[in-house]
Amino acid sequence: MTASIVVLGSTGSIGTQTLEVAGNLGLEVTTLAAGHPGDTLLTQARRFPDAQIVVAGGDSDERKHFELQLGGRVEFGDDAIATAASRQGSVVVNGIVGAAGLSATLAALEAGNRVGLANKESLVAGGPVVKAALRAGRGEIIPIDSEHSAIYQCLVGESIEDVSRLVLTASGGPFRGMTTEQLVGVTPDQALRHPTWEMGRRVTIDSATLFNKGLEVIEAHYLFDLDYDRIDVVIQPQSIVHSMVEFVDGSWKGHLGHADMRIPIQYALTAPRRATGMATPFQFPGVTLEFEEPDRNTFHALDLAFDAGRQGGSSPAVMNAADEVAVEAFLDGRLGFPGITQLVARTLEGVEWRELSSLDDVMAVDAEARVLAGSLISAVGYTD
Ligand SMILES: NC(=O)c1ccc[n+]([C@@H]2O[C@H](COP(=O)([O-])OP(=O)(O)OC[C@H]3O[C@@H](n4cnc5c(N)ncnc54)[C@H](OP(=O)(O)O)[C@@H]3O)[C@@H](O)[C@H]2O)c1
Repeated sequence: MTASIVVLGSTGSIGTQTLEVAGNLGLEVTTLAAGHPGDTLLTQARRFPDAQIVVAGGDSDERKHFELQLGGRVEFGDDAIATAASRQGSVVVNGIVGAAGLSATLAALEAGNRVGLANKESLVAGGPVVKAALRAGRGEIIPIDSEHSAIYQCLVGESIEDVSRLVLTASGGPFRGMTTEQLVGVTPDQALRHPTWEMGRRVTIDSATLFNKGLEVIEAHYLFDLDYDRIDVVIQPQSIVHSMVEFVDGSWKGHLGHADMRIPIQYALTAPRRATGMATPFQFPGVTLEFEEPDRNTFHALDLAFDAGRQGGSSPAVMNAADEVAVEAFLDGRLGFPGITQLVARTLEGVEWRELSSLDDVMAVDAEARVLAGSLISAVGYTD
């Protein structure tokens, strides 16, 4: 087991749960990093007086004020986050939201570190580049996304040649069973009410559109080196089966338990061993497990993601960037719920496809997609 951890995105849902797990395991937290110099980070910094504090954003006044409150020991900027991720000998938990997490994942891998990867956008936007870093270095990724942690654990001791199919489970989100017409006019408050998981805002909205599952399909493709014909999605509304693997002999393995992100976070820190966890024991009596097909006609995001994944190159990065812009616009009331998927589709049509071979390539296509998506918002419209 690791002795010390760097927590990126420490103020978010994954970050705060990582700090709980670290406390339970008695691990040293060497770095806390977040997007803004806010109160949550300040409280965390005081709770971990020996940790280095890193902040990506904030204007110069906010930064000065934050530094004064902390009495030094804070560094600013994206480069400082990448430097913290490359501190050798630490496990880096990447709980940053969005493509902003990619450079830290690459820096950590290049330094030979283990990355506990919650930031699925690292693989979605930068899949080819992250794979190249994995091939070149000594670093490794242990997935934290519950579905990928589940599959990773099902594959321990197995050979990928013996896998016939991965099946990612999805809760279906708050709008499961609704029609296209019913989705017009749903509000951010409704979309933020996830039935089984408590998560950050972007991933919660993505769960409502099914973009989250689409991002996860692409993440699984890069993590497990399987082509898209061998990756399926099934709705499991109780979120008890976290994903499954079918083998060529007809055997299945699945990973079951509470919907509690502390379990995959802890596994990423202790793998290949396990430690006593914080989750309450799971009881089977009284539990019903249902499985159903996703409604691909109503939730187009899933097929859009499969298509983008199959195109490869820049398409997943464009899809992710457009979705980040769309989710923000939806939460701000500038775009209707169905408009999220439409905006992503139009952005994918508008950005020229290309290969990605470096972080700069990814960031360039990400920026281009954001500009186009931003300019298309009013064209897509509120109730579209
Ligand atoms: N939450 C879950 O249960 C869950 C499950 C599976 C996978 N994931 C994945 O884990 C990632 C994080 O999700 P979350 O739900 O924890 O999100 P969240 O609650 O919104 O937290 C995001 C974190 O990222 C930080 N951040 C934002 N922009 C940043 C930047 N440019 N540089 C550095 N830090 C930045 C935020 O800092 P500020 O607070 O300062 O903005 C915050 O600490 C996402 O990729 C998500 O898909 C989450």
